[in-house]
Amino acid sequence: MSNNLPSHGGTINSIDSSSSKNSLHNHLRNITGSTTSSNMPGNLHNPTSNHQPPSSQSSSSLTSSSNINGPLPDNEYEFPYCEDVNKYTKISKIGQGTFGEVFKAKHSKTRKLVALKKVLMENEKEGFPITALREIKILQLLKHENVVNLIEICRTSSTDPNYKATFYLVFDFCEHDLAGLLSNITVTFNLGEIKKVMQQLLNGLFFIHKQKILHRDMKAANILITRNGVLKLADFGLARAISDIRSDRYTNRVVTLWYRPPELLLGARNYGPPIDLWGAGCIMAEMWTRIPILQGNTELAQLQMITQLCGSITPEVWPGVEKLELFTKMDLGKSQRRRVKEKLKMFIKCDYALDLLDKLLILDPSKRLDSDSALNHDFFWSDPMPQDLGKLLSKYTSSMFEFTTPRRRAAPQAQAGGGPSAPGPHVYHPGHHPGGHQRGPPGRMGTQNSGGQYIDRVF
Ligand SMILES: Nc1ncnc2c1ncn2[C@@H]1O[C@H](COP(=O)(O)OP(=O)(O)OP(=O)(O)O)[C@@H](O)[C@H]1O
Ligand SMILES: [Mg+2]
Repeated sequence: MSNNLPSHGGTINSIDSSSSKNSLHNHLRNITGSTTSSNMPGNLHNPTSNHQPPSSQSSSSLTSSSNINGPLPDNEYEFPYCEDVNKYTKISKIGQGTFGEVFKAKHSKTRKLVALKKVLMENEKEGFPITALREIKILQLLKHENVVNLIEICRTSSTDPNYKATFYLVFDFCEHDLAGLLSNITVTFNLGEIKKVMQQLLNGLFFIHKQKILHRDMKAANILITRNGVLKLADFGLARAISDIRSDRYTNRVVTLWYRPPELLLGARNYGPPIDLWGAGCIMAEMWTRIPILQGNTELAQLQMITQLCGSITPEVWPGVEKLELFTKMDLGKSQRRRVKEKLKMFIKCDYALDLLDKLLILDPSKRLDSDSALNHDFFWSDPMPQDLGKLLSKYTSSMFEFTTPRRRAAPQAQAGGGPSAPGPHVYHPGHHPGGHQRGPPGRMGTQNSGGQYIDRVF
C-alpha cells in the first residue's frame, strides 16, 4: 500500500481547494498510473501529456517514485493520467450496487468490452470517497486470474470551471455473474462444472488471503464468470487489509446478511480469512439449491437459521465463543443438533461435496477449513474431476447478471431427479438477492419480495 493514501476512515478533502485538488490528483495519478494495463489495447494515456507513463512500467516503479509526491503546477490539475470516460461507449446497465451503477461499455477504437463502475460521490462536499480509494488500492494489489482486473480509472470532463467530475473504475468485462447464472434455470451445472466453479473461487480466496486481504462481501452476485469459464472474485468495496482488522477497531457489520458468518453475527471485531470461507460454503451449497440457503431477515433470525443447520453455538463446540459480545445477549437455545449433511443431502448427491460443505460451514472459525485445505479436499480430486466451464457457457449468447436476469419461475418437474443441478421442488429464484449489509437496507423477506414474486426458502 502506498503511503499516499490514508489507511482508515474519512474522505480525501474537497477537490475544490487547490491543495486537496493536488492531493487527489496525486492519489489518482498514483492509482491510474499503476493500474496501466499492458493488456489494454489502444492508447490509454493522454498523448499530449508530458507525463505519460510507458504502459510497460511496473506498478512499483510508478508508485514508489518520489516524483509523484511533489506539488504540481496549476496546469496539471486536469488529471492527465486519468482519461476521459468518453473513450468508452456505454452499451447497457448491468449492475446497481450500493455504491453506484455498473455499465457494460466498449472502447470506441479497439472495441474491447469493459465494465464501468461509477464512483458514487455520496457527499460531494467531502470529495473523493475513501471507500472507492480503498477498493482501488486493493484491486491494484490483487492481480490474479481469479480476481477481476481493474484496467484504469476514468473521469468525465467539462469546460465549466465549477464542474465536478464523475469517476469510473474500468474493469475487464466478464459475461456473467454467478447469481445471474443460478437465476437462470436453463443453466445446469454438472458435478464437474460445480467443482470447477468452487476450485476457482477457492483459488481466488487463497490468493487474496495470502496477500493479507479479506473480501468481506462474498455472495453469488460478486462472483463473475467470463464467457470462457474463468471465475473472478469481484466487488472489493468492503475489502480490508488483515493487519487493519487485527486492531479490534473494525466493524462486524460487513458481509451481506445471508452470507454472514456466526462470529460476525455474534459481534466479533477481531476476525480473519474464515469469514470469507463461510461465504464460500454458502455459495457452494447454492450451486445445488440455486437460492441462498440461509435467508434470515434480521441478525437474530440469521443466527437462528445457522443454529438450525449447524447446531447450537456452545463453548463445547466453539471454545471462547462466550467472550463474544453478543453471545450471552442472544438466546439461541442449546439443544440443536448439527444437521448440515442431513439437510443438504436432499439437494446434493455427492458425499465428498457434503463433507466439504460440512467443513466450510463450521461454527468455530478456528476450525473452519481454510482455502488451501479446502482445495486439497477429495471433492476436487475424485471423479468427475473439475470440468472446464467453457462448453457450458458457449451455449449462452447473452449475459446473465443478477441485475438483468428476469425473475423467473423454476420448472420443478423438469428438474426432478436429484442430479447435481437439480433444484428442490417449488424453488423460485428471487432474481435480486436481498439480504442487506451495512451498505444498504436489509432486504425484504417472507414469501414475497417487493416485486410480488415468490422467494422460497431452502429449509
Ligand atoms: N467486470 C465486470 N464485468 C461484468 N459485470 C460486472 C463487472 N463488475 C461488476 N459487474 C456487475 O455489476 C454488479 C455490481 O458490481 P459490484 O458488486 O462491484 O458493485 P457494488 O456497488 O459494490 O455492488 P453491491 O453493493 O450490490 O455489492 C455485479 O454484481 C455484476 O453483476
Ligand atoms: Mg456487489
